[in-house]
Amino acid sequence: MQDIWADIATVLIDEETLQTRIRAMAAQIEADYANDEDLLLICVLKGAFMFLADISRALKRVHSIDFMGISSYGKGTTSQGAVKIIMDLKAPIEDRNILIVEDIIDSGRTLEYMRRSLLARSPASLRICTLLNKPARREIDVAVDYIGFDIPDEFVVGYGLDFDEIYRNLPYIAVLKPDVFAHILD
Ligand code: IMP
Ligand code: MG
Repeated sequence: MQDIWADIATVLIDEETLQTRIRAMAAQIEADYANDEDLLLICVLKGAFMFLADISRALKRVHSIDFMGISSYGKGTTSQGAVKIIMDLKAPIEDRNILIVEDIIDSGRTLEYMRRSLLARSPASLRICTLLNKPARREIDVAVDYIGFDIPDEFVVGYGLDFDEIYRNLPYIAVLKPDVFAHILD
């Protein structure tokens, strides 16, 4: 079995730092929505599943959750350009307050695509929450309402984020050793 811990170069954001920031983000979200307002969190699969689990538990207010599967990456570490919905929401979102929960914004293509396709379904409001943001790589300027951490232009894994579908179970955000990427042609 592959030793995924041996592939880690550095831990960029440790578990405690993640949880502290997520609690603060939840408090900010609580303050921004009135207590009696409806709120639906939409988790962008797969990468945001751990973040969704933690931010949902940190939110001390009523909310519901739904999931959307989006695919924009092939095997490499850079976007392939084409974004597509591979699993749609369970229910309509008309007149609902939507908060998109995303793992990371890189080029901005995925979120811009999601924003446009969800706005076409006439929600009452639409906001975006991302755990990580790589400002240096932005190609499309998407307005993001909640950002956990700005990070440098490095490919990260862990806490839901993968490289070639592994490393998602690492409880922190990490950078891989360069030789891990060696067999992948970008
Ligand atoms: P964008 O469409 O270029 O903004 O890419 C966003 C998506 O690419 C995210 O939802 C992630 O799934 C993936 N992604 C971008 N950067 C990374 C990274 O550093 N590690 C793992 N996945 C990433
Ligand atoms: Mg993602």
